[in-house]
This record gives sequence, structure tokens and C-alpha cells, in this order.
Amino acid sequence: MNLILLGPPGAGKGTQSDWLRDTYNLRKLATGDILREAAASGSDLGNHVKEIMASGKLVSDDIMINLIRECISAPSSANGFILDGFPRTLAQAEALDTMLKEEGKKLNHVIELEVDDAILVGRISGRYSCAKCGAGYHDDYRKPAKVGVCDSCGSVEFSRREDDNASTVSKRLEGYHAMTAPLLPYYETRGILKSVDGMAGIDEVSRQLKAILAA
Ligand code: AP5
Repeated sequence: MNLILLGPPGAGKGTQSDWLRDTYNLRKLATGDILREAAASGSDLGNHVKEIMASGKLVSDDIMINLIRECISAPSSANGFILDGFPRTLAQAEALDTMLKEEGKKLNHVIELEVDDAILVGRISGRYSCAKCGAGYHDDYRKPAKVGVCDSCGSVEFSRREDDNASTVSKRLEGYHAMTAPLLPYYETRGILKSVDGMAGIDEVSRQLKAILAA
């Protein structure tokens, strides 16, 4: 099963793709995470993308398409994958169609997480993650069971993303509406677009996803 999660920054793509990965044994391909790893490694690619991400702009289509091509053709994607953060432009969506065809694979569902812009800044500014294992938390909506201790690995160190500040978030939102929202009609005409209410609580959103995948 191959899926795309579409939605604005803070819609819950990362949260739900973790759940989908664990529940359906799929590979999670989160381009933001892959780029942040590259940035932290100090590689040439990492140094190049670090500044772009911090500004809230999009990394070039060429870089993203080559990066995803490698991931999709890897044996670890054989059981299926969830794309979180890709495609983000029409050119990326068209390139994805071509590479899937070459690999003899297809998309089963493209699922939109529908969330009003007004609540996204609050979601993003309250977000943090475990510095050791990356498990995601939120100051209000998803707290660790024991304050200050990661539920997944027991670490007591947490971090916040550099691009999670109000001015960068509004640039990322503008970019979403201009460049990524046009993908909704692109996939709707192919009959594979579904939507869930991303304003609902985390468990309810997972339940809606489960219903789509079971249909
Ligand atoms: P990326 O890392 O993909 O960021 P994004 O799309 O802006 O999405 P986020 O990670 O901010 O949000 P999310 O939807 O995953 O929400 P989350 O689950 O964390 O990309 C970063 C940058 O990389 C881009 O700006 C760009 O520069 C570059 N890039 C990446 N891909 C690219 C591409 N293809 N082309 C070009 N450039 C690219 O949830 C947010 C918070 O809300 C969490 O704290 C969570 O606990 C909480 N939450 C989640 N769901 C709920 C809920 N239902 N109710 C209440 N709280 C919730």
C-alpha cells in the first residue's frame, strides 16, 4: 500500500504517518526529516538546504525528486510507503507519477488532512520532539506521560525546530496554498483523493484514516 499525506504545515502529517508506519508496517518517507538529517550531517547537500528550510522556502524540485527516487526504489519500501511532505509542487507530483510507473508501483490513496490556517500556528509553536529518538510531542495536545521524560526511549532531552517560529510558519503556509494546494484537484481528477478532518483529536484522525484504508 502506497500513500501520500497532504496538508499544510502543522496539519498532523508527521504525527499520523508515524501511526500509519507502526500500524501498517509501511516505510515513512518524510522529506522534512530527511532534509533535517542532511542539514545536521554538514554534507554539501545539508549546508545547501539548511538556509532554505530556515527561511520557509521550498528546496528545489530537482533535489527533492532525486532524493525520493532513491527512497522509493529501495528494498525497504517494498511493503509500501507513506509520503509525508512530498510531493509539494506539480512538478514533483508529475515526476512521482513517472518514477512509480518505472518501478511498477501505484498510489493507493492520497489523503488530505483538512485544518484551518488559524490553528496551525498554535500547533507548530507548541511542538517539540525527543532529541534522542525523535518522538513528537506538543505542549498542550500530546504531553509525555511523565513530565520531561520521553515515552518512547526515556530520554530527558528535547528539541524544537528552527523553522517553527511565527514568521517562518506564515511563509510556509503561503507556500502551501500557492504551490501544494493545487495538488488536491490533480489527485481528485484521478479519483484517489480522500479527506479527513484534521481539526479532530489525534486518535480520531487516526480512526478516520483507518476507515479509509479499510474501505
Ligand atoms: P516538513 O518537515 O515537511 O514540514 P511541514 O510540511 O511544514 O509540516 P510539519 O512537519 O510542520 O507539520 P506536520 O503536518 O507534520 O504536523 P505534526 O504532525 O508535526 O518540511 C520542512 C521544510 O523542508 C519545508 O518548509 C521545506 O523547506 C523543506 N521541504 C520538505 N519537503 C519538501 C519538498 N517536497 N519540496 C521542497 N521543499 C521541501 O503536528 C504538529 C503539532 O500538532 C505536533 O506537536 C502534534 O503533536 C500536534 N498535532 C498533530 N495532530 C493533532 C491533532 N489532530 N490535534 C491536536 N494536535 C495535533
